[in-house]
Amino acid sequence: MAQTWTPNSWRQKPIQQVPDYPDLTALEAVEGRLAKFPPLVFAGEARRLKSALANVAEGRGFLLQGGDCAESFAEHGADTIRDFFRAFLQMAVVLTFGAQQPVVKVGRIAGQFAKPRSSGVEKQGDVTLPSYRGDIINGIEFTEQARVPNPERQIMAYRQSAATLNLLRAFAMGGYANLENVHQWMLGFVKDSPQAESYRKLADRISETMDFMKAIGITSENHPSLRETDFFTSHEALLLGFEQALTRVDSTSGDWYATSGHMIWIGDRTRQPDHAHVEYCRGIKNPLGLKCGPSLTADGLLELIDLLNPANEAGRLTLICRFGHDKVAEHLPRLIRAVEREGKKVVWSCDPMHGNTITLNNYKTRPFERILSEVESFFQIHRAEGSHPGGIHIEMTGNDVTECTGGARALSGDDLADRYHTHCDPRLNADQALELAFLLAERMKGGRDEKKMVVNA
Ligand code: PEP
Ligand code: CO
Repeated sequence: MAQTWTPNSWRQKPIQQVPDYPDLTALEAVEGRLAKFPPLVFAGEARRLKSALANVAEGRGFLLQGGDCAESFAEHGADTIRDFFRAFLQMAVVLTFGAQQPVVKVGRIAGQFAKPRSSGVEKQGDVTLPSYRGDIINGIEFTEQARVPNPERQIMAYRQSAATLNLLRAFAMGGYANLENVHQWMLGFVKDSPQAESYRKLADRISETMDFMKAIGITSENHPSLRETDFFTSHEALLLGFEQALTRVDSTSGDWYATSGHMIWIGDRTRQPDHAHVEYCRGIKNPLGLKCGPSLTADGLLELIDLLNPANEAGRLTLICRFGHDKVAEHLPRLIRAVEREGKKVVWSCDPMHGNTITLNNYKTRPFERILSEVESFFQIHRAEGSHPGGIHIEMTGNDVTECTGGARALSGDDLADRYHTHCDPRLNADQALELAFLLAERMKGGRDEKKMVVNA
């Protein structure tokens, strides 16, 4: 029998990845203030996302989730948010066309601040300091003072999330996300790309479809769905004191919701079934993500599914698989088989970033071809198992950074130093992110054609 859940029942459990706050009274005071702040998102919105994800779980949609590895106070600005949103929407249009299914758009944004670390300390020369844990906790500068966890940063992260969300809502609903705009941006990308020829066919088909719609009178003036878009936010629920402060009862249903973002996920390092992060997440009604890395066994996964989604509700749980291009074939099939055997309803998503990080010229980087290769394997494996490859989860930015190698512009190890801006893991830049969308869309179409051939044979 599961024990009673409360927003603070996680405090009775063992916990990983906790910052060492020197002043616990100050921390409590901040949590008390946050608990009185307005929610960032509403329960009804989280429910809407859940029902969109339920369609994905049933094979009738595709999830695009992406954004920064770690949002930063320094990079906060209208241009950064706009450029991310532009790149993300273009990916979504291309994938919608490839999948011929609705694409559910979820940003890693407006709350993605806290980072789990593989080591509690960082060494440079003979100096050892506490690791950087994300701007919501401490500073990235390698000084003793910056690395002390400061609770006031939680207030700053809350305010930045509110401002970011405000702009995103305006972009999504105020006409900026108009399909015609997104189409024009995409054509601009194709024209400038060194791979223009390979993307042109798909881009032309999208253009023809747009022309056809216009010809029969479907325009953004008479169809709001063409000028507005549903966009949701998500982040890793790592800093549980912050999450608890924003956990609120929904007045319509009487249920508890995390109001820090529409969807939250449990990281690969904090998914122990008897620990605090699983305890917190099981009690809130938002859609949840669960990172699945190579160390997760099939039985371990089934145990987590029962804890996090005991009612087997479609849309509640997204399994975000992050094995690595060379390990996905070893680990994914056994998890799919266990989940299918038990009839569990989940969204299968592929995070091709976190299992493909290497070090090159002293920079953490990710080769584009490995990222693409993991996603391709993910699709192939699902096709072979008869399950639905439901989405991708990527770290990306709308800016022209040089953090991942490869792609159409063939960034090399020597280019990394040019514009390496990330506060944590290397992100795809806008061009690389869109290239990934084009390459996937082509393959999705290929997969559909193959299916049709089998059906018609
Ligand atoms: C992340 O998504 O940034 C992350 C830390 O992932 P994981 O928990 O899968 O390592
Ligand atoms: Co990351």
